Amino acid sequence: MKTKMLKIKRDMPDMEKISVAAGIIADGGIVAFPTETVYGLGANALDGNAVAKIFAAKGRPQDNPIIVHVSSIAEAKLLASEITKAAKKLMVKFWPGPLTLVMKSSGIAAENVTAGLSTVALRMPSDKIAFALIKESGFPIAAPSANISGRPSATEGRHVIDDLKGKVDVIIDAGPCKIGIESTVVDVTGKIPIVLRPGKITLEQIMEVCGRARLHRSAKGAEMKKGEKAISPGMKYRHYAPRAKVVILGHEINGKKLAGKILKSANGKTAFITSNKNSKKITTKKIEVVFLGSGPENFGKRIFAEFRRLDSEGYQTILVQGIKGTGFGLAVMDRVIRASK
Ligand code: TXA
Ligand code: MG
Repeated sequence: MKTKMLKIKRDMPDMEKISVAAGIIADGGIVAFPTETVYGLGANALDGNAVAKIFAAKGRPQDNPIIVHVSSIAEAKLLASEITKAAKKLMVKFWPGPLTLVMKSSGIAAENVTAGLSTVALRMPSDKIAFALIKESGFPIAAPSANISGRPSATEGRHVIDDLKGKVDVIIDAGPCKIGIESTVVDVTGKIPIVLRPGKITLEQIMEVCGRARLHRSAKGAEMKKGEKAISPGMKYRHYAPRAKVVILGHEINGKKLAGKILKSANGKTAFITSNKNSKKITTKKIEVVFLGSGPENFGKRIFAEFRRLDSEGYQTILVQGIKGTGFGLAVMDRVIRASK
């Protein structure tokens, strides 16, 4: 398939180009587009045949449901059969933004979007291109992350090109994504919101708005037991993983002890990734030190891109110095832990 490439500046959406991509969505095609979190691969969420093309292009397991992206609360109300109090509060507070809400489905989304579940996951992105694309197409857009299934999510246009060129109708390239980690997924079907996948909107922020909220155990970085039912089906698969082996080193170790750990864990061509200013000074022969910048935001923004770069340069081992698993750090560590499995 010939993939049409559209380069668009992120904060100055070129409506002519967006209209071309929106037309292709309306005609049943699939389009990779930027969001504030990661790139998505979108199709008309009401058209099962179009959605099937997404599963085929990504090699995505059929039992993994897809998030539906909307451009208004009215559109969300068509897709959900019930908007709970918590859902309403969270929509008002955080939409548009990096928050996905799992609600009871009205059944109008195509069956393969929800993978046969009675719920549907809804998100209104804040990225201007994503928002304009949904609005212009006239349809809700079903979109998983725009990567081959299991690989690190695409956070730059060239990652999408590497994974999906020739397999999709259009790729919109708008440079790096602002957040770099996928949206927070929250089940709001019950009285207490349950975080199924941590993200930029933190558990603490959700508690502040709803009074109560909790983390699902699969979002605590804990591995699922065999036979256990995944409440967010995608979370049971190996994810976000580079080809290189990922090894996590504790955030509290430093100095000589850290240098010793690095040497001991190195295997073949090895890189060490850290967002700790002090750790970046570690000079260990033959090991590339990658400093991401301080704080979880810098870490989250760059981690998937570094996984991909190190893979393309033939690294065999990637050592990652962990960060504290609180606030946005919980989301970042969730992805690193999954990549290390
Ligand atoms: O930031 C994001 O959320 C990006 C951008 C493109 O919006 N999308 C994304 O999609 O990360 P994906 O498919 O890679 O991850 C969606 C997650 C999966 O873990 C999936 O199982 C879960 O959301 N999910 C989708 N529908 C669900 C549902 N009805 N109930 C529970 N979990 C659901
Ligand atoms: Mg994904």
